[in-house]
This record gives sequence, structure tokens and C-alpha cells, in this order.
Amino acid sequence: MRRWPVLLVAGFLAACGGPQSALDPAGEGASLLHGLFGLMLWVCGGVYLLTLAFLAWAIRRSRKAAASAGGEGRLRAGLAIWTVLVVAGLSVLATASFAVDRALAAARGRDALEIRVTAHQWWWRVAYRDPASGDWIETANELHLPVGRAARLELIAGDVIHSFWIPNLSGKLDVIPGRRNLLDLTAEREGEYRGQCAEFCGLQHALMALDVRVSPPRDFAAWLAAQAAPAAEPGDAVLAHGRTLLEDGPCAACHTVRGTAARGQAGPDLTHVGGRRSIAAGTLPNNRGNLQGWIVDPDALKPGTLMPAMELAPDDADALARYLEWLR
Ligand code: CUA
Repeated sequence: MRRWPVLLVAGFLAACGGPQSALDPAGEGASLLHGLFGLMLWVCGGVYLLTLAFLAWAIRRSRKAAASAGGEGRLRAGLAIWTVLVVAGLSVLATASFAVDRALAAARGRDALEIRVTAHQWWWRVAYRDPASGDWIETANELHLPVGRAARLELIAGDVIHSFWIPNLSGKLDVIPGRRNLLDLTAEREGEYRGQCAEFCGLQHALMALDVRVSPPRDFAAWLAAQAAPAAEPGDAVLAHGRTLLEDGPCAACHTVRGTAARGQAGPDLTHVGGRRSIAAGTLPNNRGNLQGWIVDPDALKPGTLMPAMELAPDDADALARYLEWLR
């Protein structure tokens, strides 16, 4: 009978963690902002409770018809204390905001990993500057970061305004056509997180997610080296047929698979698509069935997507999906 308050509190607390929560910081910027949020919550919550207590006291006092002269004096003293408390509280908040702002700015200029993120309707193009060669290595819809190393993200819009936000790692920053916005972030805890476009950008704004993986520096370096490599040669006839379909069909007009004749630039780079956690910017788990479903009828899974449906015989669709799944 009396379970609903418990369920209500549990429901609220359930939102305090997980892979997409600003209340569970795993990055330098998110930690600073989380601390500031906590301070503001305590100061403002304290003022709110004091205000309510004062209100209750005032109501009770007004009911006592005979207010004494001594009461007036206490009221003045109370108001003076109250004024001091409010000024002190606001000063604490202003100072803390300034300090956090400076700390966020101080993260800049360190030896940072260069990453270029381009927001499109409705997916993310992600390119890493190879520290060794200086070349850009392109992937999509996933952000990999080495733990403890600063990263400088250059945010570019491919079409309309989007907003880049990984709540566990940092604050959000809008991605605006014609501008180059810089976001510095340092992940401090290994794990998998989720970013989400945070500015309405059209029909599939909600299905514009970014899978984030924070790993040890050595694992990250291995991953980046693997991403830099071109696609391997297919080992059997079905995979080879899948590659031929990709190269000779409409796929190649929009997608690149490095090491093949597919050099399109409109859509995500698919060179190592099989190794990603999800497809279509976090829309579906990455497996052969979903890849095939996506190829033959993307609009059914993500209405409004710019990816056109491919008319393929079942065997061809299967071979193409097998090839994409194999591209790791
Ligand atoms: Cu992109 Cu909302």
C-alpha cells in the first residue's frame, strides 16, 4: 500500500548513474561540473528550506494577535542575518562558477589528441589525427578515447545545427554550420558511455547517438592502428561477392571502404564497420540481421534517413551483409 513513495524515490535515483548520465562523471569536465552542480543544489536547497521555515514561523506569529515590541527587534535582527546569508550564498556560487570555468579552460593547450567530429543528419563522422603520420583516420558513430589523455575535439556541422554531448565526460557544445567549435575533454574512467545529439536537428534527432569507449592507452593505440589499416582481402567467394556488390552497386557512391573501389563521401566510412557496437548512429545493435534489414529498408528502421533502400535479391543482400559484418 505504502510502496509508491519508495518506488518514486527509486525511480529518481535510477537516473543517477549509467552510460549516459551527468550525475555519474567519468571525465575531467564532467567531474568539475558535477561538483558545481552539487554545491548549487546544497546552497539553493538550504536557502529554500530556510525560506519555508521562515514562512511557517511568520504564519504562526501572525496568528498571535498581540505582537510585542520585542518581536519587532527580533524581526530586524533576523532580516539582517538573512541578508548576510543570501549575499554569502550568492558569493560562494559566483566564486565557484568562476573557479570551475577557469579550471575547464585550463584543460586546454595540453598535449591533446586531435579528433574531428562532423555532425550530419543523423550520424557522426569521426576522424582522428594519427600521431605518427599526421594523417586523418576516419570512422563513424563511435568515439574511442585513451583514459587519462586530453582530447581536443573540433566540432563541425555538415548540414544543420546539432549539439555534441557525452554527459559522463563533459558539458555539451553546439555544432554550428560555418563555425569550428573546440571541446577539450579528458576521460578519467575506462568504460562504455553514450553520447547524444542535444539540439533538435530534424526527424531523427533522437536517433543520433554516439557510442563511446574509454580504454587503456595501449588498447586505444592498437585500435587506432587497426582503424588506419585498409580493409582486408575477402577470404571466400561469398565475401568476395559481397565486396563486388558494394563496389559496383550504389553503395560506393556514398560510402568509402578503404582498400576497395568504394570511395563515396556522403555517408559513413565503412572500412571497419563490422567492429562497431551499433549501426545507424546507435539505432540498432550491430549484427548481420540488422545490417541486412538496414540495407534493404533503412526508412522502415529510421524514417527520414538519407540512406536509400537497396533492391537486392535475398542471396545478394545476405552476401553484402556478411561482407560488412566481416569488415572489422
Ligand atoms: Cu543532430 Cu539533433
